[in-house]
Amino acid sequence: MHGTSTIPKTADRATRYAALLPQMRGLIEGETDLIAAMANMTSSLQRTFGWHWVGFYRVLGTELVLGPFQGPVACTRIGYGKGVCGTAWEQGRTLVVEDVDAFPGHIACSALSRSEIVVPVKDQDGRVAAVLDIDSTALAEFDTVDEQALEQFCALLQPLC
Ligand code: SME
Repeated sequence: MHGTSTIPKTADRATRYAALLPQMRGLIEGETDLIAAMANMTSSLQRTFGWHWVGFYRVLGTELVLGPFQGPVACTRIGYGKGVCGTAWEQGRTLVVEDVDAFPGHIACSALSRSEIVVPVKDQDGRVAAVLDIDSTALAEFDTVDEQALEQFCALLQPLC
């Protein structure tokens, strides 16, 4: 069984991502169920970095529907082009939001969230199948280091989509 306890909390973020990625790959390897893989990914990321909310929304028809997550209860459905998640789906790209109050149409599932990153999960045809949404209670928590690393994490899910 792979865990995340061997990653020192004092290491910088890029180092922690680099240590976590092969553990995540090992956890997902051989797994065929997308929900199971997403569930372990949210747990690993949340426990490694301590973020307020880490979760997936899956594309089901014309909406994003809440999937596996770690954190407080959240809204269950988000429309195409709505909020940060629906916009990332519409644009098919990662969105880094330094201040959620400055993002027009941001959907506040938790009043504690101050910044956010949303990373699309693409299927094997390049279509958005889900988004990974991470919320922090700190302003400007996420940058290109997170964007690049989390895109690698989401790419691990592509064969399961
Ligand atoms: N803030 C997101 C909604 C999801 S919650 O943060 C978990 C958005 O604007 O799409």
